[in-house]
Amino acid sequence: MNRSPMNKPTTPRKQSTGIAPPQGRLGVLIPGMGAVATTLIAGVNLIAKGQGRPFGSLTQMQKIQIGHGNRPRFVAIKDLVHLAEPRDLVFGGWDITPENAYQTACDAGVLSQDMLADVRQELEAIAPWRGVFDQSYVRNLKGSHVKTGASKMDLAKALMDDIRKFLADNDLERAVMVWCGSTEVYSEPGPLHQTLESFEQGLRDNAAEIAPSMIYAYASLMCDIPFANGAPNLSTEIPALVDLANKKGIAISGRDFKTGQTMMKTIIAPGLRTRMLGLEGWFSTNIIGNKDGEVLNDSGSFKAKEVSKGQVLDSILQPDLYPELYGDYHHKVRIDYYPPRGDDKEGWDNIDIRGWLDQPMQIKVNFLCRDSILAAPIVLDLIFFMDLAQRAGLQGVQEWLSFYYKSPTMPDSRKPEHDLFVQHLMLTNMLRTLAEEEALNQSDLGENVEKLIVR
Ligand SMILES: NC(=O)c1ccc[n+]([C@@H]2O[C@H](COP(=O)([O-])OP(=O)(O)OC[C@H]3O[C@@H](n4cnc5c(N)ncnc54)[C@H](O)[C@@H]3O)[C@@H](O)[C@H]2O)c1
Repeated sequence: MNRSPMNKPTTPRKQSTGIAPPQGRLGVLIPGMGAVATTLIAGVNLIAKGQGRPFGSLTQMQKIQIGHGNRPRFVAIKDLVHLAEPRDLVFGGWDITPENAYQTACDAGVLSQDMLADVRQELEAIAPWRGVFDQSYVRNLKGSHVKTGASKMDLAKALMDDIRKFLADNDLERAVMVWCGSTEVYSEPGPLHQTLESFEQGLRDNAAEIAPSMIYAYASLMCDIPFANGAPNLSTEIPALVDLANKKGIAISGRDFKTGQTMMKTIIAPGLRTRMLGLEGWFSTNIIGNKDGEVLNDSGSFKAKEVSKGQVLDSILQPDLYPELYGDYHHKVRIDYYPPRGDDKEGWDNIDIRGWLDQPMQIKVNFLCRDSILAAPIVLDLIFFMDLAQRAGLQGVQEWLSFYYKSPTMPDSRKPEHDLFVQHLMLTNMLRTLAEEEALNQSDLGENVEKLIVR
């Protein structure tokens, strides 16, 4: 649908492994062309013009250690594994309102009018296709630009038609889909979600248990396109769609981009546990005034977010191992919709901790963050890494991408890892392995301990 002027096929940099290099351009399909999606697209275009830097993106900026002992090398991720380039990306997507990406970016107010003016033409060229919507899943929004169909299976087929047309019009052989749509109401997998047969029958029967995001995920997988879920609601996180991804050999990952307060939580909590400081309570509250905040003002969508944010601490603090330190802490998360703030979220954390002789202490964190500024580089990295996973033949749930998610989806019944630093080691070790380099553990990353041992 939309061709950015900077799109030229990229020549692969190196031929180190058996992974197919990224030939040609890469399609990016986004259900939900809102603040996050338009901040990403504007950013990719601004960076290509030399008018901004991709801070926050590992694929664009990070160097990782290769080899250990006395002679480690530090290699940029993009030089270690074959990744597509930002200039290779071609964007298309759906929304339930018809505004083009420029109008939406102006309304979202994340980037200044001056910045948007420089990429106005590129953004105006991206007008969303009609979305698949059901207001019972996002109760605070109304859809004015939606598809109609006799059944949910018809709607899935209409999405597949959009995808195939986009690929053909832009001469694309590869694409990735990233859900950046609004948070749908909380739900749990039911009997209908257990097998592909019952799920497809549900699509034909218009079953109420099938959310719009699941219809996009199904369409993506049926078109052999990897799918990443940026919101806390279930989409590919049901057995039927995990089976479909495994059967077809398609990469999936989720869920809920880890941006502001939860990122801080997964940085601070591992520190408290490592120092064996006790936790009595962690109170987190946020104000946010964007459309996402308006959607989360509904109890159903908020519950999906609350559950996603809530699991982090137990997993990191391990109360089973340390009942005295972490067996009985209070954890409360609040999000309040406060329109004057727009996308500039403000989060407060009050952390009540206990030290030597049970003495109480407090930590206060006041994070004045910008939601979409933190989310855009996550989406960019996921696009490149999901494409890499697909080319490398890594099918099904991509646990190594847990780093990017608040509530990482797991390939089996194991509990997810939430510690940001362990997640980072998982991610970088997957990259080392794909590049046929040796995986490292945490001690490999520090000083060479052998030198310290007096023989
Ligand atoms: N920004 C962050 O830091 C962050 C962090 C974690 C998760 N998320 C999640 O990412 C998603 C996007 O966030 P945002 O700030 O861009 O929100 P947004 O409200 O600006 O954009 C979401 C867009 O999705 C559209 N939409 C809703 N249902 C749809 C459907 N069925 N089909 C197509 N389009 C649909 C809405 O009209 C809207 O334009 C939200 O679910 C949010 O919870 C954001």
